[in-house]
Amino acid sequence: MAPENSPAVLIFGDSILDTGNNNYIETLVKSNFHPYGEDFPGGLPTGRFSNGRLISDFIGENLGIKASLPPYLDPSLQAKDLVTGVCFASACSGYDPETPMLTAVPSIPNQLDLFRQYMAKLRTLVGEQKSKAIIESSLYVISAGNNDVGATYFLAGRKSSSDMDSYANFLVGQASTFIRQLHGLGARKIAHLSTIVTGCVPASRTVFGGIGRPCFEESNDLAILFNEKLGYELERLRDDARFPNLSTTFLDVYTPLFDIIQRPENYGESV
Ligand SMILES: *[C@@H]1O[C@H](CO)[C@@H](O)[C@H](O)[C@H]1NC(C)=O
Repeated sequence: MAPENSPAVLIFGDSILDTGNNNYIETLVKSNFHPYGEDFPGGLPTGRFSNGRLISDFIGENLGIKASLPPYLDPSLQAKDLVTGVCFASACSGYDPETPMLTAVPSIPNQLDLFRQYMAKLRTLVGEQKSKAIIESSLYVISAGNNDVGATYFLAGRKSSSDMDSYANFLVGQASTFIRQLHGLGARKIAHLSTIVTGCVPASRTVFGGIGRPCFEESNDLAILFNEKLGYELERLRDDARFPNLSTTFLDVYTPLFDIIQRPENYGESV
């Protein structure tokens, strides 16, 4: 158990980081069945979109906080879980308001409301001073944009009304607003993941790839554009005097994943 004053990890965004929130809401997007969870301790599906633990869990573990980060919507959540961090992320969410609507999952503004609710509970639990200290010293990790650049832009009619550049700007504007709001609530250390290689995930290859199921290059192009703009925006926010003590980190997961897809043999995988 982590010491009382240790920082928490707080997670927002989409399925890359969702540790099981969708199990507790009315949506078709769930992962509560085999083979999900088969490599997770216990071997049962947990609501994570993975056979094992997620980046969210590894971050918590590497910081010495806890081995798995509970989903905030789990009704069995314990008071002590609040102190060391929870996950607000929800699979299929994103920055485009259309994205979470498509599958009825909590939007990013909804997740921010849940965080406000969390802060109120934390204050009741540990008091004003200590909760302020926890909020300010905690690590905030966000993954969002994947479903926007991987699906919504191409499926929900966005493409006909907006070119890729404007759409990427729009998404980054939403990301920027979210980060400013988090800072306004007291968050200081914020890390944002890039998107994954959205055009090369199995669903994207199946829906857009045609018979040979190659990667859907248009989605990858949009992902690259979004990631580049997001990286600049995070630097800009960090250097902006209006957001004192804000530290932002851009975590590029696109490049290493792309390399695994290009050269699986280097990683001990065969094709
Ligand atoms: C910024 O950090 C310094 C040093 O920890 C602290 O004294 C100050 O109150 C912080 N300012 C804000 C606005 O958080």
